[in-house]
Amino acid sequence: MPVIIGALRESAPRETRVSLVPEVAEKLAQSGARVLLERGAGASAQFPDAAYRGVEWADSAAAVLEQSQVVLAVQPLSLEHIQALKPGAVVVGFLQPYARREEVKALKERRITSFAMELVPRISRAQSMDALSSQAAIAGYKAVLIAANHLPKFLPMLTTAAGTIRPAQVLVIGAGVAGLQAIATARRLGAVVEAYDVRGATREQVKSLGAKFVETGVSAEGAGGYARELTEEEKRKQQEVLDSRIAAADAVVTTASVPGRPAPKIIPRAAVERMRPGSVIVDIAAEQGGNCELTRAGEVVTHQGVKVVGAVGLAGELAYNASEMYARNLLNFLKPAIQKGELAIDWSDEVFAQACLTHAGEIKHEPTRKAIEG
Ligand code: NAI
Repeated sequence: MPVIIGALRESAPRETRVSLVPEVAEKLAQSGARVLLERGAGASAQFPDAAYRGVEWADSAAAVLEQSQVVLAVQPLSLEHIQALKPGAVVVGFLQPYARREEVKALKERRITSFAMELVPRISRAQSMDALSSQAAIAGYKAVLIAANHLPKFLPMLTTAAGTIRPAQVLVIGAGVAGLQAIATARRLGAVVEAYDVRGATREQVKSLGAKFVETGVSAEGAGGYARELTEEEKRKQQEVLDSRIAAADAVVTTASVPGRPAPKIIPRAAVERMRPGSVIVDIAAEQGGNCELTRAGEVVTHQGVKVVGAVGLAGELAYNASEMYARNLLNFLKPAIQKGELAIDWSDEVFAQACLTHAGEIKHEPTRKAIEG
């Protein structure tokens, strides 16, 4: 029996992306699977129903859920949707294991096999499945455009008949995937860019994008390439250097986060108060509590003339490309589990094993299990 792979119209507020785009739906259908979509699934990402070929349609989420053996999603399924899943179903999506405990418990209790895209290991072989990276790159790009829109200044240097305009100074804090894309975007727009990360390994990446690495004189490299906890003295020294670079910036993009933990607070109120009026902070970590003390998720706070943008759902603002990239990540993840149109998960494959959140009535991801079950 060919596996039925279903995709819903996302129901979370503000979610504009879709888990299956026409190109990927067609590939799954060609691999022998049956693809079932809820009508209008891709509409908010600008993929009308008519763009999909070789798929089947259902009029409601319930109809997709009761037939599908595999359900693809962007956001965690609601409790109601989890109850409507077919016994033995497989769910793949951003399941937010750290935040959505009730949903994780429901998945476990219903003995659903669920894979969280956040848990796909970040090994070379799994790069094509790395949805955190694909969506973070979009967020980094968009954050710079938002900063540019709020700034009462140009980003590039301009030489005009009315004189020369100095380029804007952009500071990027956190040089992971989002931060590196923010640096590249700000550079393309002509800004002078500086960046900082606690991991010294990012220094060369920052420089290769034409930005200056902010040297705090503190190295947080611990065992295995991870950052270590700083001493109080080191923290003070680091904050002193960073505060002066924040004060010099026209726009700051912050992206620092730690999985499963609140985002580190890097920009205190006092640092915002040292910035020039008209400056902008775009805080990509807003949903995890924010890197700036004044950040409020989903809002723009103006404090002494400085705008602090609590950016949320940035990838969804580029819903078309974000969905394309996400759907390809899902396809690359799922492909090895579809053999001649049938589902066969190889549990000895570390990608499946590590991405698995719940299976056979157990929470498989240890940190989530500990958080929920103690
Ligand atoms: P993330 O979104 O978890 O965090 C963003 C950045 O913030 C990171 O670079 C982190 O070092 C930095 N950060 C955390 N606390 C900070 C602080 N107090 N001050 C300044 N910066 C701080 O990171 P992302 O982008 O998801 O990447 C996580 C890790 O995974 C990185 O080590 C990255 O190199 C690695 N990675 C590996 C891939 C692969 O090999 N397939 C693909 C993508 C990422």
